[in-house]
Amino acid sequence: MKDHLVIFDTTLRDGEQSPGASMTKEEKLRVARQLERMQVDVIEAGFAAASPGDFDAIQSIARTVKGSTVCSLARSNENDIRRAGQAIAPAARGRIHTFIATSPIHMEKKLRMTPDQVVEAAVQAVRWAREYTDDVEFSAEDAVRSEVDFLCRVFGAAIEAGATTINVPDTVGYSVPSVWGELLRTLIERVPGADKVVWSTHCHNDLGMAVANSLSAVLAGARQVECTINGLGERAGNASLEEVVMAVRTRADVFPVQTRIDTTQIVPASKLVSQITGYPVQPNKAVVGANAFAHESGIHQDGVLKHRETYEIMRAEDVGWAQNKLVLGKHSGRNAFKSRLSALGIVLESEEYLNLAFARFKNLADKKHEIFDEDLQALVSDEDLTPDGEYYKLAYSRVCSETGETPAAEVTLNVDGAERKGSGIGSGPVDATFKAIESIAASGAQLLLYSVNAITTGTDAQGEVTVRLERAGRIVNGNGADTDIVIASAKAYLNALNKLQFPDRVDPQADV
Ligand code: KIV
Ligand code: ZN
Repeated sequence: MKDHLVIFDTTLRDGEQSPGASMTKEEKLRVARQLERMQVDVIEAGFAAASPGDFDAIQSIARTVKGSTVCSLARSNENDIRRAGQAIAPAARGRIHTFIATSPIHMEKKLRMTPDQVVEAAVQAVRWAREYTDDVEFSAEDAVRSEVDFLCRVFGAAIEAGATTINVPDTVGYSVPSVWGELLRTLIERVPGADKVVWSTHCHNDLGMAVANSLSAVLAGARQVECTINGLGERAGNASLEEVVMAVRTRADVFPVQTRIDTTQIVPASKLVSQITGYPVQPNKAVVGANAFAHESGIHQDGVLKHRETYEIMRAEDVGWAQNKLVLGKHSGRNAFKSRLSALGIVLESEEYLNLAFARFKNLADKKHEIFDEDLQALVSDEDLTPDGEYYKLAYSRVCSETGETPAAEVTLNVDGAERKGSGIGSGPVDATFKAIESIAASGAQLLLYSVNAITTGTDAQGEVTVRLERAGRIVNGNGADTDIVIASAKAYLNALNKLQFPDRVDPQADV
């Protein structure tokens, strides 16, 4: 019998710390449902003390998700812990994940606390957390640059206070596999009470070794890996869930562990997260990249046709690639539409939203004969189907683009309920449309990124646009999809402007 490896997904917390990746409550719920369908053990749903919106999202996930443990992050202070405890209260299984930095540089320069004060804060935090749940995780932030003796002391104290999972983070992505495995082995040997807890690892990818370091920790005895879909996360990201899960499964001869992940849900999860956050997946990304199973060289193609295993170590269908199938067409009825949405884990809040989504589906089916799962996901992402963030809405747009002429656009927006008209000219139809929107919004935001991807194949495919805006140091991503890429672009731009309307959140890794 192999040991169980706990998969702790932090896409909704550390993943959300990627610039512009913050998600609305609805979006977080959709991702959480997909993670549950994938049978993730623990979903870190957010940081409850960050903002009322984060608190709300965690609470809704705790109410909705019953097949996975729902967790909130909390710094080691009373307010954070109590907010986390309240947010996870409705969960069938709830966890509080509390942390404090333990490296000399973080203790001195960031926290301005002595090592004794840090141990005391950690112990107190774990005790408060135990008032809400008997599933308490403690992390030593920046463990990678902490002194081993001090780590043994703080972890021992946290275990004595009631922590049930001990997490060792490489917060700055500095370690290498041999060193990281050795650290985990030493801690598991030396920390008093080590045998009573689950050891966990949380690695960042600054040197491209987050997955390798996590797997090395597993070989050293860690039985929980913290990871994210598509490796999303702070800076260069976290260890990618799909790579960790498929490495353990594909190299069962090497790893003495197994997960309970339904791997066929990996690609749908990857697409959903990419679409919601606006972070595209690089084509050569392991497991979920568009080319991960594409064989370009003639020799490889020939080999695969003769015998698949000549060049393939995993089956595309095992990670969910085969699921891109025709699902609906223009004659599909409301029930077929609703049941396909629910198979995708999409539950619209009310009949009104379902009706709106169905009308949009019919409209799309008129323009595009074959509707795929990806089209449906894009369709329900449209902001006018979600209750959050509707300050700006596109009512009408027109663009004139002809050879030798300067493109010009007109738009009508619904701004907080009032109709406003604007116009603009630009170097192309998209540029003109953005100028027309800005003639109304005057947001002062700077455009950092604009990208278009075809959601499916064919020239009738929907274009999916991502727009990244920055204002006063705050970065947001907006998405929009439509068969007309100028309209998709306008929707993405407005989606980003709407996100800028949300109040700012507290950074979880700020001072305690
Ligand atoms: O990277 C890190 O140290 C973290 C902690 C909050 C676990 O994300
Ligand atoms: Zn992290």
